[in-house]
This record gives sequence, structure tokens and C-alpha cells, in this order.
Amino acid sequence: MIGSGAREHSLLVALAADPAVTELHAAPGNPGMVQATCHDVDMTDPAAVTALARRVGADLVVIGPEVPLVAGVSDALRAADVPVFGPSAEAARIEGSKAFAKDVMAAAGVRTARAEVVDSPALLDEALDRFGPTWVVKDDGLAAGKGVVVTPDRAAARAHALACLEDGHPVLLESFLDGPEVSLFCLVDDDEVVPLLPAQDHKRVGDDDRGPNTGGMGAYTPLPWLPDGMVERIVAEVCEPVAREMVARGCGFSGLLYAGLAITSSGPEVVEFNCRFGDPETQAVLALLESPLGETLHAVATGRLAEQPPLVWRDGAAVTVVLAAENYPGTPRRGDVIDGAEQPGVLHAGTATGPDGRLVSAGGRVLSVVGTGPDLAAARAEAYRTLDGIELGGGHFRSDIGRAAEEGRISVPD
Ligand code: GLY
Repeated sequence: MIGSGAREHSLLVALAADPAVTELHAAPGNPGMVQATCHDVDMTDPAAVTALARRVGADLVVIGPEVPLVAGVSDALRAADVPVFGPSAEAARIEGSKAFAKDVMAAAGVRTARAEVVDSPALLDEALDRFGPTWVVKDDGLAAGKGVVVTPDRAAARAHALACLEDGHPVLLESFLDGPEVSLFCLVDDDEVVPLLPAQDHKRVGDDDRGPNTGGMGAYTPLPWLPDGMVERIVAEVCEPVAREMVARGCGFSGLLYAGLAITSSGPEVVEFNCRFGDPETQAVLALLESPLGETLHAVATGRLAEQPPLVWRDGAAVTVVLAAENYPGTPRRGDVIDGAEQPGVLHAGTATGPDGRLVSAGGRVLSVVGTGPDLAAARAEAYRTLDGIELGGGHFRSDIGRAAEEGRISVPD
């Protein structure tokens, strides 16, 4: 397992539950990953990761984050004949370059927001005039979900775009898609596409979607408000055409294709694609997976997804709530002692072992707490009960993850 966040921790928990999995290693891992032996290896260094995979005799390498994928770690592993779950660097451009993703979608006839790339401050004001009254400004590069500003405030949109341009990145201006958002993860093996359960992320830092965007503050699955047949429609109208287009371009996708969509009055429209499992949605989705994860990911890695039996899911719901460090999503305070993290359902992300051996915070999103239950209300209650037992100085979390869905307040516009 390549990575060190709660997404990777949840993948490890699910892999450990697969009877075919005999040994787990993580690089670099985190102190909560007791399921694995952790190795202090630079996960973005293709040669170092390949050497580690050889040293431990890995039958399968699962790459969690986008940065090693874009850096070509999966290509190096494939060249060394190590089965790897994760797309090539070329295919990972579906996330790494928003402009590439738009080009693929246009060729595949997939509905998405109208977009313009702006690469010079001199062109910015005129371009901003062509959008609004809600502006969507995206950094055209990897930004872990935090490079997006959605705002009715033109000055704030302009300031974010200028900051990206001054950092040397082009920006993408997009029309705003009105409708509830869905994250649909699909296992993709060239043109074979198998969806997981749909989930919904909560991207803003504060309750009721207030405050700045984060990498994600919590998620739930399944989505009681999603119309019947919508997952099949998304697969047929969005994910399969994109998978086929990538094969046609000679960069077939192998791994996890994450479609971030708005369900608008005219159907699903793409907000973004990612080339890997989403964080924190994965923590909720995998909590309901009954099928053996190791065998499933190995089948994708070895081109045998079409031979797999249908995925089996537990009934009920799962909710994950992120406990974040003080000042996140700004520069997080580090080094605060964490108590109560040993409870079931707690996944580690930004944690480290302090000098006195105690667990301390070491990143923005510190823990992901997962609750499951027969319905959303029960799953929420379990997640928040666990959180009540955790202490982190300055830590904060949203108290409303999954609440609007539980209360029936989400609907697709007519
Ligand atoms: N949940 C947002 C992301 O994984 O990018």
C-alpha cells in the first residue's frame, strides 16, 4: 500500500479482511496502520517504490494518492512486472490536467461544465466576465481537492485565479453546476467498468457548507436521495465513454476512476475526474464492502476484472467524519496529543508518534472516524459516539455529516 492517509488505512483494513491476503506492507504508512509493516520510503520515487516491492516480494502494489501516479510510480512497477493497482502516468492526466480531462470528455460526448483555461493575468478579467453569478475557479494541476474556489464573490474568484497564475499554474474557469454532488468510484480495466457504492463528500470546513474548501470533511454512503437507476446511468453516460476514449487514445485506464458529478435537472454532469480512490468517501464505501478487496484489486491489476463475480455489499449505511487539526485547511497546528484513537472505526491520517511515545497530530486531517449501522441515522450516531471519546487539542469536525440526507433535505432539481 502506497500512501499514508486514512484512505490508505481503510484500504489496508479491507485488504486485511480478505482471507487471500497473507502479508501487508505500507510505504510510508502511519502509526495507526497496525495491519502492515511500514517502510520509510519516498512514495513519489518510482525506483525506490519498485525496489521495496521487490524486496518484500509484493504480489500486488496498491497506490493510494494521485502524486505517485502522476509521477509514474505505476509505470515503473509494471516495467518491473509487479502487478499494480493504479493507472499509468499518462492515464493519470485525467486528474493531473483538468484541460486533458475536458478534452477527453468533449471527445467522449460526456456532459460537463463549460470551461475556459486562462494562462495570463492579462486575460483574466474578460474571462471572469463570461462566467458568474457563481464563479468556479480551479488550479489546473494537482491540488488535493483544495485548489477549487466556488464563490458568488467575483473579487474572491479573481484573487484565487491570480494566486494560481502567480504560482505559474494556468487556471480553469467553469460554469457552476446546480444540483447535489455524487462521488462515484469505478474499478476500470480498459473498457470494463464496475461501479462501487455512490457516496457524497462534504468539502467545506464548516457545518451547513460554510467556510473554505478542504480535502473533504466527511462522507456517507449509500445516497437515499439518488434516483433509482442513476448509478447505471452515470456508468453508461459518463464512465464507460471516458474509459473507451482513453483506450482509443492509447492510454487505457487501469485502477480506480473517480467521477465527481453534479446531478442537475438534465442529468449527471461531471465536475471532475480523479485517478484514485477519494478521501474521505473511501472510508465509508469500503466499510460496506463484503467482497474480498485483495482479489478484486489484483484482478484489475492483471487485466481480469471482467472475470470477477459481482461485488457484494452489506446492507445499511456508513458515515465517516474527519477530525481536523487546529487551523485546517490553513497551515495546521502539529504536535497536539491525541487520546482515544484506539477505538474501533478510527482510521489514521495526519498522526505521528511523539518523542514520549504518545500519538500526536502531524497533518491537517488527523483521523477519520467511521460509523456503520442499519440506516444513516444509526451510522451517524455511531461515528459521533466514537468522536466523543477522542481528544485532540484545537481539533474540529463537522457535526452535520450526512444530516441533510438523513432529514430528507436533498433532492435532484426538476
Ligand atoms: N473527496 C475529494 C477527493 O478525494 O478529492
